[in-house]
Amino acid sequence: MAVVFAPKAQSFTQTFLLFLMVSLSRAGLDAHYYGQTCPQAEKIILGAVYNASMHDPKVPARILRMFFHDCFIRGCDASVLLDSTSGNQAEKDGPPNISLRSFYVIDDAKTKLEMACPHTVSCADIVAIAARDAVTMTGGPYWNVLKGRKDGRVSKAAETINLPAPTFNVTQLIQSFARRGLGVNDMVALSGAHSLGFSHCSSFQARLHNFSSVHGTDPSMNDEFAENLRKKCPKPNKDRNAGEFLDSTSSTLDNEYYKRIMAGKGVLGSDQALVGDYRSRWIVEAFAKDQSLFFREFAASMMKLGNVGVIENGEVRLKCGVVN
Ligand code: HEM
Repeated sequence: MAVVFAPKAQSFTQTFLLFLMVSLSRAGLDAHYYGQTCPQAEKIILGAVYNASMHDPKVPARILRMFFHDCFIRGCDASVLLDSTSGNQAEKDGPPNISLRSFYVIDDAKTKLEMACPHTVSCADIVAIAARDAVTMTGGPYWNVLKGRKDGRVSKAAETINLPAPTFNVTQLIQSFARRGLGVNDMVALSGAHSLGFSHCSSFQARLHNFSSVHGTDPSMNDEFAENLRKKCPKPNKDRNAGEFLDSTSSTLDNEYYKRIMAGKGVLGSDQALVGDYRSRWIVEAFAKDQSLFFREFAASMMKLGNVGVIENGEVRLKCGVVN
């Protein structure tokens, strides 16, 4: 009897703790948070993302990445938007964030929001909503963004070392996501964001030349694909802007990314690694087969990402680049 009872008791406790954690991490967040105070908030943000994307199709990918980099360092508190000051080097100037772009889109939305409903909508919420819009606008799913995040007052370039690197193996990726309460399923689904956008050669150059003592090129890479990448990223490479799109359909959010990595055509080592490990491979296969499953899981994982480290004792910044 005890044998049967113990696991049940344990699983109840675990379920309760999980429920508590999820409730706590969502503390204060609400789909209708600005319903009374700024009902037009989402429309204004959508307008800013849409206008910018019409002028520059690179914008959606950049905003989506910005959201991820914000949430992974100090939680979704817009710390990634703060500018460096004379006494402090901010996240923006940390090595992985040098290639973040399109901050002006968030600033533009903020300026319009300050006119429509002053001192109400946090920069952290703007990034979360803009990321959802970037996804929907490029053909991906829609979800209701929970709102009510506050903006942090601290941003340190040195902390960006805690972002996952493109050289990570699956164990390292799993650990990095687990530290933020995200599971393997979330990690594989969110990696599908690489269905959009571009990577500079520096992020995958090591896979192409002198990969190891045995292999010149990463052997998990399709030969023809590797040859192509070597042409784009020769060694030495004088063009700092050179690189490759992360997916063959890099302006559309779809499940093509999963099909590509299954064919050995992942640009980043961390993308290709997902196929080589039993813990992630079956999820990759499922998403490659079924785009609507990928969309459902991606939307759910984006909501979870948006709950990471949400702070309640922050502020609503007046300008996203500086603390009040
Ligand atoms: C799984 C761990 C991840 C690693 C190691 C990683 C790494 C990278 C790297 C190295 C680049 C190329 C940067 C450059 O060279 O300019 C990149 C681009 C990008 N990443 Fe990730 N990433 C990860 C997860 C994510 C997640 C979870 C998201 C969003 C939910 C995301 C969104 C993007 C997007 C959209 C781009 C393209 C950006 C552009 O075109 O400007 N990444 N990522």
